[in-house]
Amino acid sequence: MEVKITKCIPERLKRPPDTMSGVIFGTQFTDHMFCMEWEDGIGWHQAEIKPYAPIMIEPSAMVLHYAQMSFEGLKAYHTDSGENVLFRPRENFKRMNRTSIRMCMPEIEIEEVLAALKKLLYLDSKWIPKEKGTSLYIRPAMIATEEAIGLKVSSKYLFFIILSPVGAYYSQGFNPVKIMVSDKYVRAVPGGVGNAKTGGNYAACTLAEKEAKEKGYTQVLWLDAVERSFIEEVGAMNIFFVIDGKIVTPQLTGSILPGITRMSVLELGKLWGLEVEERRISINEVLRGIENGSVSEVFGSGTAAVITPVGILSYKEEEYNIGDGHTGPMAIRFYEQLTGIQYGKEPDNFDWVELIT
Ligand code: PLP
Ligand code: COI
Repeated sequence: MEVKITKCIPERLKRPPDTMSGVIFGTQFTDHMFCMEWEDGIGWHQAEIKPYAPIMIEPSAMVLHYAQMSFEGLKAYHTDSGENVLFRPRENFKRMNRTSIRMCMPEIEIEEVLAALKKLLYLDSKWIPKEKGTSLYIRPAMIATEEAIGLKVSSKYLFFIILSPVGAYYSQGFNPVKIMVSDKYVRAVPGGVGNAKTGGNYAACTLAEKEAKEKGYTQVLWLDAVERSFIEEVGAMNIFFVIDGKIVTPQLTGSILPGITRMSVLELGKLWGLEVEERRISINEVLRGIENGSVSEVFGSGTAAVITPVGILSYKEEEYNIGDGHTGPMAIRFYEQLTGIQYGKEPDNFDWVELIT
């Protein structure tokens, strides 16, 4: 794939933030972006790295009406030795292709897009923040652009990648968050699109999240849509429980996102010789376990959330305190090891890290 590069003129270059403290997650964007287009009968074309700018689509563009889209989230890190790296980027692009298949959209050529992403990151490398716990969030997305309001599969798409320097996703940083279990709304149903990274899933969560925030909770923990009993995931992360010393997480049912951080936690846990289980976990098992002490920790995992300890679960207006209000040892161990690999402090025995050159 030929990628045209049009650099931003020097007078238009922006200044990256001097410090990331106070910068709200995902609100600043770098100088450049990557775009390419797809059309029936032509395939991918017009690949270009160009100045970050508004995109032109018509009000009739299908994505604006029927939400035919896919997206991803990954990060570039500045390591202690001064290199810039990506974490398991192929896994994100593989997941994006799975989302695209579910949404009837074209797949991308992973190696070509990864090469273009590296070029974009190289060009905007001064935007990769260096402070502890910061990174450059990478957002690839694909949208249906055919101008038509009849319901059908679009014949045209725009794929783009934008970059945003970020610190912690939650304002609490690496401190326990309060989560509300939703028994009123559901996020995804069997046979639906819950395991795809597509915008509609997030739109479907907003009312429950708004109500949870109004009550003082950071996010919502979703239960399965049929029995409203089995734990699925949180709005922007997968969920783990430490039950009798075992690492337990909901199995991939088709209605939760198969997180890359989740997969990495499971692989690390196995490497450390811990017992790890992917299975159905009922909310009652968890609440009973918190009360009798068998559930010693709860934490979330995600690219944005990294490892986020959960200090309080609320269910049917009742609050359950996990541990003693502090971050538990298992969450700390996974956090240290994962971020250690990402920032080059720990050996990368799994080959998860990819150098940006
Ligand atoms: N679940 C949802 C709904 C998410 O949006 C995310 C974030 O991408 C995750 C889980 C965690 O996935 P990953 O670890 O691949 O970032
Ligand atoms: C991510 O963790 O990458 C996500 O996409 C979550 C998003 C809501 C910021």
